[in-house]
Amino acid sequence: MDKFLINGPCKIKGKVKISGSKNASLPILAATLLFDKPVIIKNLPRVRDINTMLNLLRSLGSKIVLSKDKKTAKILNHKNMRTFASYSLVKTMRGSILVLGPLISKFNKAKISMPGGCLIGTRPVNYHLAALKKLGMNFSIKNGYILAHSKGRLKGNIIKFPKISVGASINAILGACLAKGTTILKLTALEPEVLDLTKFLNKAGANIKWSGRTCTIEGVNSLSETRYSVMSDRIEAGTFSVAATLAKGNLEIKNFDPKVIKTELELLKKAGAKIKEGNNKIFISGPEKIKPIKNIKTQEWPGVATDMQSQLMVLMCKANGKSTITENIFENRFLHVGELQRLGANIQIKKNKAMIKGNTKFVGAELMSSDLRASVALVLAAMISEGKSTINRIYHLDRGYENLESKLRNIGVQIRRKK
Ligand code: UD1
Repeated sequence: MDKFLINGPCKIKGKVKISGSKNASLPILAATLLFDKPVIIKNLPRVRDINTMLNLLRSLGSKIVLSKDKKTAKILNHKNMRTFASYSLVKTMRGSILVLGPLISKFNKAKISMPGGCLIGTRPVNYHLAALKKLGMNFSIKNGYILAHSKGRLKGNIIKFPKISVGASINAILGACLAKGTTILKLTALEPEVLDLTKFLNKAGANIKWSGRTCTIEGVNSLSETRYSVMSDRIEAGTFSVAATLAKGNLEIKNFDPKVIKTELELLKKAGAKIKEGNNKIFISGPEKIKPIKNIKTQEWPGVATDMQSQLMVLMCKANGKSTITENIFENRFLHVGELQRLGANIQIKKNKAMIKGNTKFVGAELMSSDLRASVALVLAAMISEGKSTINRIYHLDRGYENLESKLRNIGVQIRRKK
């Protein structure tokens, strides 16, 4: 199993280019199942989750031609598509559930493995199923599979989500896009990746309008041939912004819209970072002394992203005083804490709140990755630790960060991969 060897502490300086967004690419790729005409998707990140989604589409019958750099995919669906998503494909990536809405809408049936829980929480799909049921999907759960069918075309309806969910909002939008009549979704997730999906669908002829958290979808009969470039990855941009703040860095982070991390950049300014916004880029320099922040709380967009929580925690470990971070989205998302403690962190957890005593002197150690974002926090911590660290099980990082080690090496981090 691959591991990272990191020798710290490192100085950060230079430029980094942000890749396409994994979490925007996954629903857009799932949405291609709704098309009879060819679709070209550009700016895909070269990460494992995207390969998994492309393999899932291939297994359903889509013909996919990738460009040489593998960042552009031309996708054309077959006349006789399959509607079965196996356990082996779904278990490696919960995002596979996003094909349910398109399959039921386009082919009126689907058999998809239940995604199950994961380390950061139970992560049920009950809101996805309830929303699609309201559009006319019937389903049962048998032998770990969702068996779904509908009598002909789905029908528009009014759906109020009990709680904001990114995935359930996406599945409902994908189900409603070609449904008969109007669907009104209330309490819809407004994450930039959800808006990127509706921008893509509207470009292809869908009729989707937003008003606050209400999303109104007039069903259309078909979608037209389209080319679309996926938005850049806001979590990758946020992660590099934390890296620069943490390591007294001087970094130009380019190829993304700074508005998508405005909340996180405000926090970094509070911590002492100097940030200048340019056209599709930022210049960020880290302070001599990092200031602590009381009451960081993860929330749905436009709040602090839960996917940035672990990276911010590393930053607060180096702050000059006490901070707190409350995790409001996932019940078990402090997996990185035990590993950070092995480097010397002083963190106490009470339910969903972490109390962090700052001024930590991190000393390199052997570490274990647990999930995608927890793993990147360990990379950040190792980067500013005294001496050598080894990060095991980095396949988690390969799921979602494109060329992480070469991007970090280019800006001064001593990191290498050991096979
Ligand atoms: C997506 C992102 C993930 C991010 C998360 C929150 C992708 C592939 N993943 O995950 O990186 O951390 O949004 O921004 O885009 N819930 C239910 N029932 C459901 C659905 C969700 O109870 O049917 C709960 C979840 O357990 C969680 C909360 O709702 O506590 C929010 O989850 P959700 O927004 O759905 O996250 P994902 O779409 O899974």
